[in-house]
Amino acid sequence: MTTLFQKALKQEQTERPPLWIMRQAGRYLPEYLETRKEAGSFLDLCYNSDLACEVTMQPIRRFNLDAAIMFSDILVIPHALGYDVQFVAGEGPVVEKLKTPEDVFNLREKIADQDNVLSPMYKTLSKIREKLDTSKSLIGFCGAPWTVGLYMLDDKPSKDSSRARTWAYKHPKAFLELMDVLAESSAAYLIKQIESGADVVQIFDSWAGSVPPDLFEAAVKQPLFKMCRIIKEKHPNTPIILFPRCVNMNKLEEMANEAKGLFDALGLDFTVDLEEAHKRLQGKVAIQGNLDPALLLTTPKKVENEAQKMLDIAAKMPGYIANLGHGITPQTPIENVEALVQTVQKY
Ligand code: CP3
Repeated sequence: MTTLFQKALKQEQTERPPLWIMRQAGRYLPEYLETRKEAGSFLDLCYNSDLACEVTMQPIRRFNLDAAIMFSDILVIPHALGYDVQFVAGEGPVVEKLKTPEDVFNLREKIADQDNVLSPMYKTLSKIREKLDTSKSLIGFCGAPWTVGLYMLDDKPSKDSSRARTWAYKHPKAFLELMDVLAESSAAYLIKQIESGADVVQIFDSWAGSVPPDLFEAAVKQPLFKMCRIIKEKHPNTPIILFPRCVNMNKLEEMANEAKGLFDALGLDFTVDLEEAHKRLQGKVAIQGNLDPALLLTTPKKVENEAQKMLDIAAKMPGYIANLGHGITPQTPIENVEALVQTVQKY
């Protein structure tokens, strides 16, 4: 069955735009907090397929969204390659750092064994697929090489990427090897996710905006395109969504011009002008986004008005997927999410 979401990804006209919400399973939901307590640590939850399936389904049951996204995290890849990963309450993720450029050259041999760590995710996907209505899509995901590599190099990627950038300048061979190994490991991971039930995949390049122009090709574009080539060779019909956050419109347009079947959609962050994106990207790739998650901290009326504005711009385009411009925040009141959902679903 072709889902509403897949139709939009093929840039076909749909009755209304499909809707899902980045980080839709998470701390703004009381039922998530319950399951999270039961699981123990955040990583315990990611690696427990029964509970990960349960939290994936929670926002679908509550809001009848058009796609479920496997519950996991982008940082399971460094973990699967043998690096310690911890989620410290109030601090975010702490990943063991690459110490010397030589360390990078020991990573490639670890790819062969990564499924020893990642197999619970594949089990989670099969379980979700059994529970999820066939009219809905199941999204698999991973992080992009630059974003994941940043967590292996810099202490606080949300504040600084200078160690990663310094490596790119000072140890270009090791840096390129890191991007390449992460691209191969992540593409293999997404292929297995597709074979376990994901019918769409999204690659999160959350820190793509912290790359200077001279490094954009090597750190962002080529690693992402390499992943797309590996995935499409095996699964040409599975749509790929790229989310290069905080990348300017010229770069987004350049990527869209080169998409040509390599990837299917661009996720836009909330800094992008949707009307301009419509003009410059339309017909090349499907477009997803981009309501500011901070709007969901206001009132239902405000959310309804702003969502309506977004839809009035975007519904002109075939191939539009309604979403936020970044992940929903833990403080979001449920009634504001309901206002967004109702506005899209009755459009
Ligand atoms: O969308 C979904 O519902 C699926 C789950 C999902 C999570 N992380 C669960 C999570 C997805 C798609 C991610 C992706 C992810 N993880 C990204 C890319 C998207 C983005 O937001 O930019 C990044 C950069 C990460 C790394 C990461 N994981 C950070 C920075 C944090 C801490 C941030 C915070 O809000 O505390 C996490 C932890 C995390 N990942 C949580 C969840 C629900 C919160 C942890 C908890 O429940 O204690």
